[in-house]
Amino acid sequence: MNLESVLFTQGFGSRRQCRTLIADGHVTIDGALHADPDADVSTETLTFSVDGIAWPYREHAYLLLNKPAGYECSREPQHHLSVFNLLPPQFAERGVQCVGRLDQDTTGLLLLSDDGKFVHAFTSPKRKVPKVYLATTRHPLDEAQLGALREGVLLHGEPKPIAAVSANARGEHALELTVLEGKYHQVKRMVAAAGNRVEALHRERIGGLGLPATLAVGAWQWLDEADLGSLRSG
Ligand code: URA
Repeated sequence: MNLESVLFTQGFGSRRQCRTLIADGHVTIDGALHADPDADVSTETLTFSVDGIAWPYREHAYLLLNKPAGYECSREPQHHLSVFNLLPPQFAERGVQCVGRLDQDTTGLLLLSDDGKFVHAFTSPKRKVPKVYLATTRHPLDEAQLGALREGVLLHGEPKPIAAVSANARGEHALELTVLEGKYHQVKRMVAAAGNRVEALHRERIGGLGLPATLAVGAWQWLDEADLGSLRSG
């Protein structure tokens, strides 16, 4: 692939902007300046640098963000900042989107990708991927509430009750809830239907992929093949 196309596919602007970046001497590979936009480079295991920042070449971007509260999962947010404010602009430029949405006040594991098939597969209602949430509840949890969540609760507008895969108290006000669907405000609505109220919500896991303990709030990381495998193995 020529170097211009490498930068273009990785989100460094229009083809013209990419050519200019390269020709103006902003791009290095393995420490060596590469100023010819038409030069052929192998993308296999390629890492290039733009103004000293290293970028692995990835045909598709698969990312994990430790989402803070106060960010919307939209490129055109209504009332808060966008999660895209937490990512380098190259990702939005190359078409990265959120894989499902978390509410602005929900924290934790958010996936993003520019692989349309992947986004579709993981947001499709047919794909039952377990998602583990930790909800802080306003009122103390009791067996009746946990039982209702396990048995199934009827949410407004839904034809039949939705049951959690599991619902366990981790503390008087700490509910661990695993659900398969990704319906609008699902956890908050389920907890409300069970007679309690969510005060704070955090997503810990999707499939077999957990939020890495080392990833700071607001930080992102690439997902590798092993991570994608874990995601599917949930
Ligand atoms: N359920 C909710 O209610 N909100 C989220 O952000 C995710 C799941």
